[in-house]
Amino acid sequence: MPRGVDPSYSHPVTDALLDRIRSKKARIGVIGLGYVGLPLVVEFAKSGVQAIGFDIDASKIETISHGESYIPDVSNEDVTSVVDAGLLSATTDFTQLADVDTINICVPTPLRKTKDPDLSYVVTAVEQIATHLRPGQLVILESTTYPGTVTEVVQPRLEDQGLRAGIDFFLAFSPERVDPGNAEWTTRNIPKVVGGTDPRSTELAAALYGLIVDTIVPVSSTRVAEMVKLLENTFRAVNIGLVNELALMCRDLDVDVWEVIDAAKTKPFGFMPFYPGPGLGGHCIPVDPFYLSWKARQSGFESRFIELAGHINAGMPRYVVERVAEALNSRERAVRGSRVHLFGMAYKPNVGDVRESPALDIAELLLRQGAIVSYSDPFVPTVREGCLTLDAVSAEQALADGLDAAVITTHHDVFDYDGIVRLAPVVVDTRNTLSGIDAEHIFRL
Ligand SMILES: NC(=O)c1ccc[n+]([C@@H]2O[C@H](COP(=O)([O-])OP(=O)(O)OC[C@H]3O[C@@H](n4cnc5c(N)ncnc54)[C@H](O)[C@@H]3O)[C@@H](O)[C@H]2O)c1
Repeated sequence: MPRGVDPSYSHPVTDALLDRIRSKKARIGVIGLGYVGLPLVVEFAKSGVQAIGFDIDASKIETISHGESYIPDVSNEDVTSVVDAGLLSATTDFTQLADVDTINICVPTPLRKTKDPDLSYVVTAVEQIATHLRPGQLVILESTTYPGTVTEVVQPRLEDQGLRAGIDFFLAFSPERVDPGNAEWTTRNIPKVVGGTDPRSTELAAALYGLIVDTIVPVSSTRVAEMVKLLENTFRAVNIGLVNELALMCRDLDVDVWEVIDAAKTKPFGFMPFYPGPGLGGHCIPVDPFYLSWKARQSGFESRFIELAGHINAGMPRYVVERVAEALNSRERAVRGSRVHLFGMAYKPNVGDVRESPALDIAELLLRQGAIVSYSDPFVPTVREGCLTLDAVSAEQALADGLDAAVITTHHDVFDYDGIVRLAPVVVDTRNTLSGIDAEHIFRL
């Protein structure tokens, strides 16, 4: 039981909702059916509760309604079985929000060009909820955001019509920790942190997630829950920044950074390995720390670690391009006019997500220097980002056609790395995928 809840004290609205959740009679609503929302709503439906997914993207709704998935971690079979069983439906009709007992918000929280938080998606979703809010509903924000969002942005809008959080309806934050493509850690076994605006909200949110998650971690407030996620992702961004700087340093010192990390990680305590790479990617690590630094700045606090790590990590694509230039130089070739082929456009292996992918920056920098850029990525058939308009070619085709430099930007399992080493005149390996292969034409980070 969360701190502050007196078990002898009964509150009819809370008790009714608790009862509906525990008996699986509650109807669950999830707003935003992307990488986070779709697995969540499917998991709820699989647990035997009625779930409705809401999205503004009609094509996603149609796909789900046909029993299909568009997210690699969610199988078509899972979607089909819950849709056919009548446990999952999906809609763009937000009036149906009035019919659900609980609402999880999983909409994007990107940065503006100025690196300020863009909460417009959250605000739009919350305004939709506010229009249909009725007593006894539980609203949980899952989108990653700065501490204070729930109490400063969400709560006032929901209370606008006179209902009060913690009394008439319930409100909580629960950070999403899903790791797309990770088969070991899934919704069920990743512990779920929940923090409500009040103990009743925390208790209800904990009960709800208890239907689909093994371990619930209640915390004292929404602010703590919001901050937990930002600590987790800032921790990663800063440590990746540290090893990226170490990689640059090691090159100057003529030390193999990968060998150093491999040896250091044999220490059984007090060390955790992080690896250098071509730069940060995805919707989380490059973005979330700036939500925190923005919020800190509002109270005059300068978050130096975040800024420094951001600076180092953002410089990595440029460093990769320098390595490509060095590699080509070893063959007496210039970047201009050389055929440079990128293996992987996604930000991490075995997924098709290109958001903030460093491969995009690398491609753009190479193009600007006059290289003839092409790429292979079985998960990313086309790229239309900024000045980039590229269509993937198969890796086999690229190697058969001939290229001047291969860059391993994303270590997808499906690539034939032996073939790349055999057929490319020079290879820039940004992921240490070719570890153990010693050849003069391989250039590591
Ligand atoms: N992708 C991840 O690995 C991951 C991990 C942890 C946390 N998060 C966080 O979860 C949140 C969602 O991320 P995501 O990766 O699922 O994003 P996504 O872009 O994959 O999905 C968001 C969905 O929300 C929909 N949407 C946007 N505005 C809407 C509105 N007003 N009403 C209804 N639907 C709307 C979009 O159409 C889209 O389908 C973000 O805050 C992100 O930082 C993401």
